[in-house]
Amino acid sequence: MSDAPSSVRGMNDLLPPESAKWQHLEAACRALFASFGYGEIRPPVVEHTELFARGVGEATDVVEKEMYTFRDRSDRSLTLRPELTAGCARAYIEHSIAMKEPVTRWWYQGPMFRYENVQVGRYRQFWQVGCEAYGVTEPTMDAEQIAMLVALFTGLGIPKLEARINNVGEGEDRVRYRAALVAYYEPHRATLCEDCQRRLDTNPLRLLDCKVRADHALAAAAPRVLDHLGDKAAVHFAGLCAALDAIGVPYQIDPRIVRGLDYYTGTVFEIVTTTDELKSQSTVCGGGRYDSMIASLGGPATPAFGFAFGVERAIRLMPAPAESFVPALALYIATIGAAARQRATALAHRLRLAGLVVEVEHREVGMKAQFRRADKLGARLTLALGEAELASNQAKLKHMAARTETPVALDDLLAAVTAGLQS
Ligand code: HAM
Repeated sequence: MSDAPSSVRGMNDLLPPESAKWQHLEAACRALFASFGYGEIRPPVVEHTELFARGVGEATDVVEKEMYTFRDRSDRSLTLRPELTAGCARAYIEHSIAMKEPVTRWWYQGPMFRYENVQVGRYRQFWQVGCEAYGVTEPTMDAEQIAMLVALFTGLGIPKLEARINNVGEGEDRVRYRAALVAYYEPHRATLCEDCQRRLDTNPLRLLDCKVRADHALAAAAPRVLDHLGDKAAVHFAGLCAALDAIGVPYQIDPRIVRGLDYYTGTVFEIVTTTDELKSQSTVCGGGRYDSMIASLGGPATPAFGFAFGVERAIRLMPAPAESFVPALALYIATIGAAARQRATALAHRLRLAGLVVEVEHREVGMKAQFRRADKLGARLTLALGEAELASNQAKLKHMAARTETPVALDDLLAAVTAGLQS
């Protein structure tokens, strides 16, 4: 048995060329979010444990059983962030952002940590990209964000996604709905799964998205939250639907979406794949309105709307192979001998600073092997340098696809390579 170290279960290395696909996704987010006015926030990975208990909710699965919590050397209880909505709210309050601007739009990306059952699309360290917008109550903000996400995923070439929206109400609506749910489920208590029996007392809304199959039929016939909304929430929901229609974003109304985190008030939504690529983890993105969180954490009453999507899940749904995002190799310089390697390294350096992707063979290997490698790396052009080429200051630039060779003066290599790439 090997005693070589291994990574922690559910926490994965990201290696090239896969990382090129991630970088493409990040660049697409950065560009799109900027045009909607989002600035990037980079909060710490660790927060005081209490923030999540207060911000996310004691009765959520995340806080109850999934957090990585530890004591530091000063005996403070700290937690690796399981999500970033609470951390952003903390930063929003701590930096008095509400005093500085009426509307704030932040986006973030980074690793989150949840001690969950590991399976396809579900990890213990996973990456999220998310957006949070503060200061706006109107449903057009909800629609703007949902539309932005749909545009992002469409631009990334992800097929077969559906935006599903719902409204879980707030205040009185929630009290009424909660009572209706408890009355509906109570006679079936004994048949519920163990988690749901507990949820019936702590968090009845969560009964609706139980993953246990036997509970599905019961959930399907349960009272619908949309039938229990007061005027304010009903008007908001109609406003969201109208705004999405006006932008032209297709969506489904799904009264079973309640979300696993406690802070939502009003609109909730998910973006779900209709393929089985993610097995049982079909939700790529989730979010909604959380108008009471900032005040409940001690900040000024501030409405907020946000979402986060799982990067691993989105990447898996992007059909293009990772290799297609790796910048193409423009030139491979084959070398024979130390003097040629030295000249090749200097030549390549200049070309790279001009923006070209260039590979130099630094190893002492035969010419045949070098050309095989150039082929494997997909080099568009190759150049072989040996004693004769150094003496004449000339070499042959080979166009790999056309199988043609052009003599070039080494001092004019940049111009020759640039021309060669265009032919
Ligand atoms: P969430 O639904 O817990 O929401 O997570 C959002 C997304 O993160 C999920 O839809 C999923 O794609 C991904 N995700 C969650 N857990 C895992 C996991 N263990 N492995 C892989 N991917 C995972 C939130 O976190 C909220 N903070 C979203 C939000 C922002 N609401 C308002 N603002």
